[in-house]
Amino acid sequence: MRSPAAATGPIGVFDSGIGGLSVLRALRQELPDDQFVYIGDAGHAPYGERDTAHVLARSQLLANYLCTTHKAKALVLACNTATAAAVASLRERYPQLPIVGIEPALKPAATQTASGVVAVMATRSTLASGKFLALLAAQPPSVRFLLQACDGLAVAIEQADRQAIESLCHRYVQALRQNPDGGAQIDTVVLGCTHYALITEVLARLWGPQVALLEAGQPVARRTRQVLQAAGLLRPAIGATQQDLAAKPLLCLSTGDPSFLNQALQDWRIGGPILLASALHLP
Ligand code: DGL
Repeated sequence: MRSPAAATGPIGVFDSGIGGLSVLRALRQELPDDQFVYIGDAGHAPYGERDTAHVLARSQLLANYLCTTHKAKALVLACNTATAAAVASLRERYPQLPIVGIEPALKPAATQTASGVVAVMATRSTLASGKFLALLAAQPPSVRFLLQACDGLAVAIEQADRQAIESLCHRYVQALRQNPDGGAQIDTVVLGCTHYALITEVLARLWGPQVALLEAGQPVARRTRQVLQAAGLLRPAIGATQQDLAAKPLLCLSTGDPSFLNQALQDWRIGGPILLASALHLP
């Protein structure tokens, strides 16, 4: 059990950009009394189309900043690509710190598919990672997973480029549907990149009502509560009033142009007062 003071520290959350807001929203619902510091590493994105060494180095830098400057009591990697590249190394480096990652929801998809054909939309880097391949190998052989690397989609979402979002989604959904290995039978789609959870209305329209879209924001939020509880770091409930919340607004930082993060924060209504996202300069 840690000291009660440790429990009041913020939870550090990061992604390559705005995608992790889909996780942050679930975290704020699950842990309404907690403070969060969110970093979008937009100056060094997209992670999904960079090499693993780059994503690992960025994740280490951001984790170090959150732990030293903000005294984070826990970290949430709100990025599938960063989790695949860096969660093991971060856990080694900070053995006392609760660290929660996110991974594509293959297991829930395998449980709920009726047709036995599941599509996975994710970044190229996530799909090529050892962590993902191990997760895939652990699924029941009766379920077929069709994988689609969605190059360019996270960037289009980051920049709120509606036209690019529409045409890329159309291209990737078509490619999956036309996969000769059973694409027409897909009934479940795993959104294996946190950015894609921000455009579920576009994907739901293209896939149609018979296809379930699975993202992992809520499971990650529940898991974060469990690990905080196990570490004695759950912030005591203060029955947060509007005044309490106003005293501890969400701090959002971007290593790129903060206007994209500010726009996404407005669009996304993630609850509670939010400080305008500001630029973060890290080496
Ligand atoms: N949001 C990140 C993920 O969940 C990746 C976006 C990017 O390529 O930067 O994988």
